Amino acid sequence: MEETNEKAYAKLNISLDVLGKRPDGYHDMVMVMQSVSLHDELRIKLNDSGELSAMSDLHFIPNDERNLAVRAARQFLDAAGDEGRGVEISIKKRIPVGAGMAGGSADAAAVLRAMNRLYGGRFSTGELEEIAAGIGSDVAFCVAGGTALAQGRGELLSRLPDMPGCHFVICKPTFSISTPELFRSIDSTPLRHHPDTAGILESLDRGELEGICRRLYNVFEDISDRRIKTVGEIKSRLLDCGAAGAVMTGTGSAVFGIFTDETMAQKAQSALLREYRFCCTAKPIKPLV
Ligand code: C5P
Repeated sequence: MEETNEKAYAKLNISLDVLGKRPDGYHDMVMVMQSVSLHDELRIKLNDSGELSAMSDLHFIPNDERNLAVRAARQFLDAAGDEGRGVEISIKKRIPVGAGMAGGSADAAAVLRAMNRLYGGRFSTGELEEIAAGIGSDVAFCVAGGTALAQGRGELLSRLPDMPGCHFVICKPTFSISTPELFRSIDSTPLRHHPDTAGILESLDRGELEGICRRLYNVFEDISDRRIKTVGEIKSRLLDCGAAGAVMTGTGSAVFGIFTDETMAQKAQSALLREYRFCCTAKPIKPLV
């Protein structure tokens, strides 16, 4: 087998806390992460050209090693000691770019899973996660996905009980927010609140969706920025439409609401699509490996 297809699932942050800046310039985080059914579709082909490339249906996505998917292929071949191989990756992008949904990281993790399959399961999940952590902070989570607590830069993972059944409505305004820029802003912002991570973990243990919805929180929403105001407006719209809770994911700009009722979620999606270009519904995904 020299080629295979793989889905790359988007992630949402049920909670996001920043504990402080580290000497290496990164920030220590505590995040409850959830993968969702919205996904990119990848095709991965091995050849003997020695070259790595990624094509996608979005013209502005780089096709060289600036693309995390290409970097993942490089890191995999280095780890497998097969540097002479070539890899051709094609990506159908469905996850919005610059949304805080780990689209690029999910693609990279999908390349690692797919290549591991093509190489007969050479690496364990733990080994793949180690390779992933060297590619980007969110890539390790995306290898298995599901529901997980992520700490450190985001690469220290503990699996959590599956998210109770629910419907996400995810909406992204037209602007994107730069991740390094938002991390710089948070260094000069005194954080007024932190998420009740322990409460979320308890609610997950008990399978109580209501307790999770009540505790959705992202410290990046504390930053006073005109764009974060739009995020607040989208949250209000989602709550008006019947969401049990709503929050920004990652460094934004996408916002999601959690609904217990599918019809209400669909109605909310239609209502928000009148104002915002991107709005979709999605369901939680269980761990892949
Ligand atoms: O690891 P990754 O390349 O995805 O991170 C992108 C940027 O986000 C980093 O350059 C850094 O500015 C910021 N970051 C951070 N602390 C983290 C994760 C990311 O400061 N835990």
